[in-house]
Amino acid sequence: MTFFLMHKNIAAAEIGIDDVTEGIFKIYEILDSDHLPVGIEKGTGNDAARSLNEWWIGRAIPASRSGLREALEILRISSPQVLLLKCFGLSLSDQYWVCPKDKPLKWADINFFENDFSEDVGNALFGKDIGGGEISLSSPDNTSDGWLKKKWVITDGKRVLLKGGSPPFYQEPFNEVLASILMEKLNIPHVPYTLAWDKEQPMSACEDFISPETDLVSAWRIYSAQKRPNHASIYQHTVHCMESLGIPGVKESLDRMIMVDFLIANTDRHFNNFGAVRNAETLEWLGLAPVFDCGTSMWHDQATQLIRPGYKNPSKPFKKEHEEQIKLVTSFDWLNLKCLTGVEEEYRELLRKSIYIDDQRRDTLCSALVSRIKMVEELR
Ligand SMILES: Nc1ncnc2c1ncn2[C@@H]1O[C@H](COP(=O)(O)OP(=O)(O)OP(=O)(O)O)[C@@H](O)[C@H]1O
Ligand SMILES: [Mg+2]
Repeated sequence: MTFFLMHKNIAAAEIGIDDVTEGIFKIYEILDSDHLPVGIEKGTGNDAARSLNEWWIGRAIPASRSGLREALEILRISSPQVLLLKCFGLSLSDQYWVCPKDKPLKWADINFFENDFSEDVGNALFGKDIGGGEISLSSPDNTSDGWLKKKWVITDGKRVLLKGGSPPFYQEPFNEVLASILMEKLNIPHVPYTLAWDKEQPMSACEDFISPETDLVSAWRIYSAQKRPNHASIYQHTVHCMESLGIPGVKESLDRMIMVDFLIANTDRHFNNFGAVRNAETLEWLGLAPVFDCGTSMWHDQATQLIRPGYKNPSKPFKKEHEEQIKLVTSFDWLNLKCLTGVEEEYRELLRKSIYIDDQRRDTLCSALVSRIKMVEELR
């Protein structure tokens, strides 16, 4: 079937989507190359179609998502790709979608920022029975990334992302809140997370930081759009790719992200866990995205005895260990560690809310946080 690849109200290309695989097999015509997704080849040949299809399939719920198989069974759907077309590829993180050529639709009538959506897919993703009635598959959850269970809900008119944790400690939601507390005190632009509960299951809740006017573009799309020369490190190539697009404040923002990741010993700052924000209409770059997804930190999956704050802690994306990665910070001038005095007590109170974290683990985590702060003090 023929579709227009839309960027909000602008048609960027005319494309063919296969009825069987639901993948993009052809770019018939480029209509506005500036509005193609970042890093897509600007042609109509097979290579360009392949790269656009990779982007398209990458919008689907990843195969690694916890509980995906069960959710697909509940929804009676064969694969996450099938869900993509059910919501025209619309997302709450950017303004791309596909419009059937023979049945024109308007962005204003279908986008999830301004129109209601069903929680059926989100509930199925959390393994909930959604009843025997008609299932609505039009949901921004169809295009959500990441491996943790998550769903979008509308609360007081706001779009809010609820995200679970993983056994045995279900610590990720608490880590998100801790990171928010630290970044609030250090004045680091961030997505604020709060705790939410589904019976006894802790979840984190955060508002959509993207609006109908903006796009989140992952660092991966920006980084992989250019070939990294042999002489350039991963960090240098990242900065180069971002600055050459005209993104403002790149090093300053990376300094802050590296710092908070050091403090919480984040192990999973991969290239889809940070990015940049641009205006979806003018394409003007606004800066790096506020720091989000800090859950995979604070030894969340490690036995209490293995929590070693001072011992080679693995990092991403620039270096393999935080002790090396923090050397990339270009300036500490902005950092006022005094603001963190006593933060461990706030952390202790937060952890008390978890039934999965016993007294010993709570004490160990609080002193680990204090150690990490001291390490930064010594480093500077
Ligand atoms: N508040 C938000 N507003 C808009 N988009 C968001 C928001 N939070 C997350 N996203 C988008 O959803 C994706 C998945 O969210 P997130 O990274 O928090 O999930 P995750 O399951 O923890 O991921 P991972 O697999 O990296 O652990 C993000 O990469 C980002 O594209
Ligand atoms: Mg993520």
